[in-house]
Amino acid sequence: MDKEQSSIYDKERRYASFLSDVVLLIQDEHDEVSVLANVAAALKEAFGFFWVGFYLVKEKEGSEQQLYLGPFQGPTACYRIRYGKGVCGSAWKQRQSLVVPDVEEFPGHIACSSLSRSEIVVPIFTKEGGVVGVLDIDSTDLATFDDVDRENLEQLCRLLTTNLY
Ligand code: SME
Repeated sequence: MDKEQSSIYDKERRYASFLSDVVLLIQDEHDEVSVLANVAAALKEAFGFFWVGFYLVKEKEGSEQQLYLGPFQGPTACYRIRYGKGVCGSAWKQRQSLVVPDVEEFPGHIACSSLSRSEIVVPIFTKEGGVVGVLDIDSTDLATFDDVDRENLEQLCRLLTTNLY
């Protein structure tokens, strides 16, 4: 096994252990803010990500639906993101995960921190298939996220759907 394969294998093992811990962490609690807050903390603890958090679709009186900042860990962040805007709003609109190896190459990227250099955003669905929000993770290094992250974070978001939505 070469160095790259061994680091992929290592990451897969870390996610496998993380996901089985998350099942136990959230199984007895169904309050949205409480569960998302603990999942953000668990991701930060397990992987040391620079910024990890949730943006949730909400419709406030008299205005269109937007993503609003939810539970997170890391530096302060933008409060609202419009449908189709930035990486988060694009993942919401496209209803699919977006892996961005270099945020400067993503047209319309929203820079909450100038230190963020790569990013992954995974939509969270209701059981009926509506988007309730996104999981957003930022790194200070380029090209931090790959298919292993995407597949495992999608699995995490499916656990959230089962538990909360
Ligand atoms: N970069 C995101 C905005 C959220 S922050 O990264 C926390 C975007 O382009 O949607």
